[in-house]
Amino acid sequence: MNNRIFQALILLSIVFLWSCKSDSRVKIIKMGHAQVTAHPVHNAMVYLAERLEEKSSGRIKVKVYPNQQLGTERELLELLQIGSLGMTKVSAASLEAFSPEISVFGVPFLFRDDEHVNQVLYGEIGKELLLSCEKFWLRGLCFYDAGKRSFYTKDKPVETPADLTGLKIRVQESKMAINMIRAMGGSPTPVAYGELYTALQQGIVDAAENNPPSFYNSRHYEVCKFYSIDEHTMVPDVVLVSTKVWENLDPEEQVWLQEAADESAVYQAKLWKESVEESMREVQKAGVQVSYPKKEPFLEQVKSIYDAIRNENPALGKLIDRIQNTRS
Ligand code: GCU
Repeated sequence: MNNRIFQALILLSIVFLWSCKSDSRVKIIKMGHAQVTAHPVHNAMVYLAERLEEKSSGRIKVKVYPNQQLGTERELLELLQIGSLGMTKVSAASLEAFSPEISVFGVPFLFRDDEHVNQVLYGEIGKELLLSCEKFWLRGLCFYDAGKRSFYTKDKPVETPADLTGLKIRVQESKMAINMIRAMGGSPTPVAYGELYTALQQGIVDAAENNPPSFYNSRHYEVCKFYSIDEHTMVPDVVLVSTKVWENLDPEEQVWLQEAADESAVYQAKLWKESVEESMREVQKAGVQVSYPKKEPFLEQVKSIYDAIRNENPALGKLIDRIQNTRS
């Protein structure tokens, strides 16, 4: 009897050791982000995880943590830099503090249309900008479409820049966004995305600005009943991996991760288009008044930003020229 128990114990230990051994071969990468799970970027990240698991035959798994569970975009980037978190998806506006060239995306009215922004993101400039973050221990893998940002307000629509006077407008943690709101006459107030619903509700800010899927999925439309489509910026999202995690992958694994990211970007672009339409429909159903102010007066107000950049930061000025000269 004792002998049988002993044999069973030996068998169990072998099974246990074997499972530990096979588990240790699985690499788990944690990926945190700030959006809700209904948002198209979350679904694209889940798709990235599935593609990578399939390509690596289960050897690499990505666990996605939404809703700012692991921190604000700024905190997530800091965790990536020290290698405590493997991957994230943030707005290029949040990256600005880490990689100065990226701030170009915050320049208002820089892109002519969707075709133009796509030519830049998926051409040489896009590649350069993704890799510009590497010296800060952040490797950009791909861009996700984050559409066009417009104002939403609690009390009245924004028809001209004069309507922004005296309004506390929430901005991302981005110097370029702060400068833009100031140039337009509003009062910029940085607030983390996850805290914005309450900030709007409690009157800490009177307004914010974002793309339709984020306006809708964040439920900010419950508080802000005016959406004024001036489309002042087209700031993309960026999927990043910590260079500490990237360097721990072998060359074949790096190819799989890059491919999975690129495939997820194609998938996200499709989800995005559908989500923009659905979001516009749903917010209007919920009583939001959508208006389309003339863009020229807003553009006029921000011309000083272009002049300031050209004087103070010629390298960024050149990047603006390269973008403006990109054909679409
Ligand atoms: C967009 C972007 C998010 C970002 C948000 C914001 O929705 O996709 O990554 O958090 O804007 O305004 O903070």
